[in-house]
Amino acid sequence: MSFESEIERRKTFAIVSHPDAGKTTLTEKLLLFGGAIHIAGAVKSNKIKKTATSDFMEIERQRGISVATSVMAFDYSGYKVNILDTPGHQDFQEDTFRTLTAVDSVIIVIDAAKGVEPQTEKLMNVCRMRKTPVIVFINKMDRPSEDTFYLLEEIEKQLQINTRPLSWPINSGPDFKGVYNIFNSSLQLFNPNVQEIDPGIKFENLNDPELEKQIGKKDADTLREELELLEGVYPEFDVNEYLEGNLAPVFFGSALYNFGVQELLDTFLKIAPTPRPRSSQERLIDPYEQAFSGFVFKIHANIDPNHRSRIAFVKVCSGTFERNKPYYHTRLGKTFRISSPTAFMAAKKEVIDEAYPGDIVGIPDTGNFIIGDTLTEGENLHFKGIPSFSPEMFRYIENADPMKSKQLEKGVDQLMDEGVAQLFTNQFNTRKIIGCVGQLQFEVIQFRLEHEYGAKCRFEPISMYKACWIESENKNMLREFKLRKAQKMATDKQGRDVFMADSQFILQMAQQEFKDIKFHFTSEF
Ligand code: G4P
Repeated sequence: MSFESEIERRKTFAIVSHPDAGKTTLTEKLLLFGGAIHIAGAVKSNKIKKTATSDFMEIERQRGISVATSVMAFDYSGYKVNILDTPGHQDFQEDTFRTLTAVDSVIIVIDAAKGVEPQTEKLMNVCRMRKTPVIVFINKMDRPSEDTFYLLEEIEKQLQINTRPLSWPINSGPDFKGVYNIFNSSLQLFNPNVQEIDPGIKFENLNDPELEKQIGKKDADTLREELELLEGVYPEFDVNEYLEGNLAPVFFGSALYNFGVQELLDTFLKIAPTPRPRSSQERLIDPYEQAFSGFVFKIHANIDPNHRSRIAFVKVCSGTFERNKPYYHTRLGKTFRISSPTAFMAAKKEVIDEAYPGDIVGIPDTGNFIIGDTLTEGENLHFKGIPSFSPEMFRYIENADPMKSKQLEKGVDQLMDEGVAQLFTNQFNTRKIIGCVGQLQFEVIQFRLEHEYGAKCRFEPISMYKACWIESENKNMLREFKLRKAQKMATDKQGRDVFMADSQFILQMAQQEFKDIKFHFTSEF
């Protein structure tokens, strides 16, 4: 197969949702279609349940499993499908946000009874920022759901994206009869006892009395009415609007009963983008360029606690990645040969000889990679758009075992490289501060430091509202600011200046007073 056809058959995406909307169930059904797994329940375990906040053994066990399931690749109908898994638990949101930097499109799952939930909104904000094309799957139609028009309106309003239904449900809950597939004009009937794929009944014309025969007069009339209304309200589906991230096609179904999933997958494969060009600080990189380039978007450390093993996940952005070929690590200015890169076919890891744009390669690492690193064939490129999000919770981290200070330092260093949290050093008192997005991350850090590095730590409260990266062309003003705020100045791991604002009020005052200083809330600006 030619290099071009390899790129054109790749679809790299993530499925995201508010916890419990059905992401895991849908992922599993897609994997069943792809033949990547053969029994239901295989993906289930990759989920940190909300109740497990203090069950660290469980977290550990699941971390192990989640390496294999971090990327799930399979071949289906001539396509190479790469599904990137994202953690369900909201305390690991940062990991999800970073994974979204490595996908070409996203499927958002929404619970039909609950509609848009807080995490759906946050995830959509990230997609919107990056103009990532999004398909919406409204799940759990077998349960009593919100009114369909109401749901669509809610999505448009809260997710701030235009929608275009490509299927339409006939009732919900116990009366759920199925969906009418608008994309290919066919009726799919729902039968909770039969999970085989229904080929559907084609309709040339919706006035065909066959519709009454299948779903009864009342529902046939309603369906005709609603579809007429829909065609009046929504413009024709325009695939370019979807590809530009302005329009989300919407499907309805029930992942649990494997209903509506095949239509979703088939349409997804037809319309979802193949690997797209990507910006670097230097220039736009086209996937069809011959020279290989890629970036690290995730690091998974200490899968086997007996061997300090880490895997750096690299997204191939251009060219062909080849085993044992020398690649240039642009941050370190060094060349590396990767002798056992892995891919994640059919939910298991295997060594590969080559990979193409869109693919994810797992690189065994002994500490040379951090999130955001770029690999090339020699060109000095730095991929953009892999931000560190502004942490929302802060604690001082203190050594609780003076005999183990080296271990603590090393552990903290490596966990930060892995992107578990962010480390700041107060320039005034040199105390170390850990910034996280969720409370659970502090617990995970403490647990992992002890179990993987033999170090003990203690967290102490700190009154802090936000970490803001600051910069200014006005050097005098910057100097004055740093002097005035000396007790509140810190540096991040790369040595950049960070202002630790105590409260929103203090931050606003500072912004007003020091007008030439830019305050950034993510580390990429
Ligand atoms: P998540 O990954 O988004 O967190 O959700 P997950 O797939 O784990 O689904 C959450 C719960 O919703 C599960 O039930 C799952 O079986 C159920 N579910 C998913 N899709 C559907 C659907 O289409 N219809 C119905 N009725 N339920 C659905 P659970 O009881 O929490 O877990 P389990 O005990 O079944 O594993």
